[in-house]
Amino acid sequence: MKQRLFTPGPTPIHEAVARSMAAAMPHHRTEEFIECMQRTQQLLRRVYRTEDPIVLLSSSGTGAMEAAVVNLTRPGETVVHASGGKFTERWGELLRVFGRDVREIPMNWGEPVTPESVHDTVRKTHATAVFVTHSETSTGALCDLQQIARVARDLGALVVVDAITSLGAHRLETAQWKLDCVVGGSQKAFMMPPGLAFLSLGRKAQERLRDNPTPRYYFDLRPALDGVPTGQTPWTPAISLVQGLEAACRVLVDEGLEQVWLRHQDHADAVRAGVEALGLRTVSQRPSNAVTAVWIPEDLSADGLRQWMWETFQIKIAGGQGPLRGRIVRLGHLGAIDEADILLLMTAFERALIQQGFRPPRSVVDVVAERLQRRSPARSTP
Ligand SMILES: Cc1ncc(COP(=O)(O)O)c(C=O)c1O
Repeated sequence: MKQRLFTPGPTPIHEAVARSMAAAMPHHRTEEFIECMQRTQQLLRRVYRTEDPIVLLSSSGTGAMEAAVVNLTRPGETVVHASGGKFTERWGELLRVFGRDVREIPMNWGEPVTPESVHDTVRKTHATAVFVTHSETSTGALCDLQQIARVARDLGALVVVDAITSLGAHRLETAQWKLDCVVGGSQKAFMMPPGLAFLSLGRKAQERLRDNPTPRYYFDLRPALDGVPTGQTPWTPAISLVQGLEAACRVLVDEGLEQVWLRHQDHADAVRAGVEALGLRTVSQRPSNAVTAVWIPEDLSADGLRQWMWETFQIKIAGGQGPLRGRIVRLGHLGAIDEADILLLMTAFERALIQQGFRPPRSVVDVVAERLQRRSPARSTP
């Protein structure tokens, strides 16, 4: 049976990505591959909306988060991050492991950190950097990154962003919002397998990493950054994944970034309209377009719903993490997902609920289909 991923990563692989990854293996020091690296760099900058150099790392997203920590901050340096979700808290874990003086902004799970709390904490602590998660995948919460970056920058703090599930799903303007470092990962809106991570480095970030005494080797961004103009990497790059990334970026750029964001917005709105029609609630009041986290009523089994969808339809949705384990499900809708996929997801979800004895107040199909038909006026394609 065909397996369908509706998880917030990994996501379904785009055909163009699969084709380019299956191409014959070039050597990484050949003209052919260097040109692929350079084309990819230019395309990725268009996705990031910046002219800043972007370093590619052969790792999952967490590797690039670690690279950001060890290159951009020093031992003992005062830095700020928030709690309130698994990935937001990962910044704190990484920063503590490397001995940074961590000031955590306490947030409830599902509540994104606010510009006001960032402003107050940075002002009080004189922190030199703020680590923020744009789209918190464990709760489906989206923070106001533009305003957070503005207040942090005004106080002289470096802005380091985990955009692993937001890049390609939400408007993110690296240059315009003056984001110093933005981390992305391949297995999300890039419609690729896991294994490649990227980070952009603005001028201030580049200055910081040049004279940083923190020990690091594989994730030392200095040689990686030096190689960007010539398409060279210090170590053997994940060649096939880079070829896939070029194809993925071309797909995104050809669709048009604004269109890609609107498509994600329309799909997320349709899923949320369906959740509401079912009489259920989302975990976050400020939801991300990448994933919708849904509270499951106490008399039902969240894990049972997931298991039934998998066993019956081979449809994979995600469960809760940390304190939300067993209490929510997460419906992923980012990457190579179309309107038919959204209808299918929500129909299967409704069937799973009914199978556990839940009686939806309305049929979800009509509501979701109607919302999908009301595409954003600026959308050019379904
Ligand atoms: C927001 C966010 N940050 C970080 C990560 C960690 O990325 P990885 O699992 O690729 O290391 C993920 C992965 O799901 C994520 O969604």
